[in-house]
Amino acid sequence: MAFDFSGRIVLVTGAASGIGLAIARRFLDAGATVVATDIDEAALQAVQVEASAAERWVARRLDAGSGADIAEGMAWVESRFGTLDALINNAGLARLESIAELSEDAIDLQFNVLLKGPMLAARAAMPMLERSGGAIVNIASIAAVIQAAGHACYSACKAGLVKFTHDLVKEHPKVRSNVILPGFIDTPILRAYGEGEALEQIKRDLAGHIPLRRLGRADDIAGATLYLCSEHAAYVSGAELVVDGGVISTTLENM
Ligand code: NAI
Repeated sequence: MAFDFSGRIVLVTGAASGIGLAIARRFLDAGATVVATDIDEAALQAVQVEASAAERWVARRLDAGSGADIAEGMAWVESRFGTLDALINNAGLARLESIAELSEDAIDLQFNVLLKGPMLAARAAMPMLERSGGAIVNIASIAAVIQAAGHACYSACKAGLVKFTHDLVKEHPKVRSNVILPGFIDTPILRAYGEGEALEQIKRDLAGHIPLRRLGRADDIAGATLYLCSEHAAYVSGAELVVDGGVISTTLENM
């Protein structure tokens, strides 16, 4: 599917790594001006883009869990570009803890980045998105709909993000808001499961349980994101797009 986002302004949170970086690169390749934001400024500055596209790549530090940072970042976008065509709420992290172990710090951190941040970013971007007829894509997770050990807080935040997406559609119908539920995608976030050869073994085991027999690639999620922001999805709003290689279907089959 060919995408053309020439002249469009897109803001991606968590754009220095993994899925966010793949999304940001795909938008850049499709002609957009990309405001690539992340809390990890060094990683963001280390991202290399083609010289011919460099003036459309705007890297900015933004803590997606901070209301002040979000307000300041959106105000900057408005003053710099006067508009925004797409907001991609992608920033994330995972702290695996059983409910018995849950620490208040881990709850606050995950809640702030995974749920509070996307809510505040949507609120702050909405006036620009309503003027431009733009789109929001929230990156949730299949954790929102399946039970995974140690994921209680993460899953609850992601389930909240799925629900919030529907409220966005109800209260702001001019902006198409959709949510993607990725499955197991091979990015640095999987280090929450382990390191080195132990992690590689976990990945192989996971792949064996996925109907498509491989982990997802960050670009698998990027393609779905561009689709949802494009004219090909002009009538798609409030969709929950599962991109998981079939994991959810297998889970149901085994119940
Ligand atoms: P990643 O670890 O490769 O990238 C996450 C990025 O978010 C990093 O660049 C990190 O610096 C940034 N980030 C973390 N806290 C931030 C904050 N407060 N403000 C701004 N940026 C912040 O992980 P990945 O896999 O690319 O994750 C992206 C999104 O996809 C997350 O929301 C994650 O929950 C979601 N996801 C990932 C899955 C996977 O298997 N990789 C599965 C389902 C959902």
